[in-house]
Amino acid sequence: MKSEITVLSGDGIGPEITEHALNILNAIEKKYGHEFILHDALFGGIAIDKTGDPYPQETRDLCKASDAVLLGAVGGPKWSDPKAETRPEKGLLDMRSDLGVYANLRQIKTYPQLIDNSPIENSRLKDIDILFVRELIGGIYFGEKEKSEDYAKDVCEYSATEIQRIVKVAADLSKKRKNKLTSVDKANVMATSQLWRSVTTTIIENEYPDLEIEHLLVDAATMHLLSRPADFDVVVAENLFGDILTDEASMLTGSIGMIPSASLGDNNFGVYEPIHGSAPDIQGKGLANPCGMILSVAMMLKHSLNLIDEANEIENAVQTVLNQGIFTADLSSHDHVSTDEMGKAILSNIN
Ligand code: IPM
Ligand code: MN
Repeated sequence: MKSEITVLSGDGIGPEITEHALNILNAIEKKYGHEFILHDALFGGIAIDKTGDPYPQETRDLCKASDAVLLGAVGGPKWSDPKAETRPEKGLLDMRSDLGVYANLRQIKTYPQLIDNSPIENSRLKDIDILFVRELIGGIYFGEKEKSEDYAKDVCEYSATEIQRIVKVAADLSKKRKNKLTSVDKANVMATSQLWRSVTTTIIENEYPDLEIEHLLVDAATMHLLSRPADFDVVVAENLFGDILTDEASMLTGSIGMIPSASLGDNNFGVYEPIHGSAPDIQGKGLANPCGMILSVAMMLKHSLNLIDEANEIENAVQTVLNQGIFTADLSSHDHVSTDEMGKAILSNIN
């Protein structure tokens, strides 16, 4: 298979984890006889430095002409001045919206080898496999904004169509899993959440009558995620709630460094990135965990390129390395290997 992939390694630890993800991609390319044509492009803080724009036109054009986008991470203290004209995060939001990637999938799975690393009691962590489906290009992130010295405003809007399309993605994914969907909202307070709940209820009743559906208020959902995490299968939520809940849930796994994500639009196009940030405090120190990025490559192969065996091979390679007791610093308080050693250990299992 021949595919075009735009690579945005970004800021902070982005480039160092991307390097390992690309090594894995190259190994898969050779082993299975594919042709992956990679295009590097500027994105985030580094793009601001070089062009004044976190998501420059050239990058937009490359992303749009590709089958998929691989993204490291963006942001850092250098670009965090609240008075600055633009920020790396703005590039990220612009890109999501520009590319129409409305469905953000974040899978929270516990690895038995990492269970001791979680702040949650071990007995609750068995068999956790939650797939979050976060709406990514609507809601309060993209509503009208106003800001002055003594007043600020962020508007939250959702249309029924936006809610329908994300709920359908989540419901379709539930059908391939345990047939159980949790929809999160704040319907006791917010008008957008009341619409969310009624639209969701109607779709499930009419189009997915066999699906088990649970509605949770977002405040209660934060508690239930800690008290009964193994009960969840697919969770669907609006943009802001999904952002917060996925960071919370990442702690179940022991480290946010393990978690990949896919942001999907129509026609199998997607942006793939680890859910952790650019971690400027550990940049260049060999402490970054490349697994979230490497597993994002697996998600890309699966969702955008339909290369299921190749994706499974990468996931198995990561699992094997964990079985061997090879951990990066975030995964172990005792012995740990460097980013490079972790990347190479995973690579050595693909041959
Ligand atoms: C994420 C991040 C972004 C978000 C930030 C960096 C804009 O936290 O991908 O979850 O809030 O969506
Ligand atoms: Mn976030």
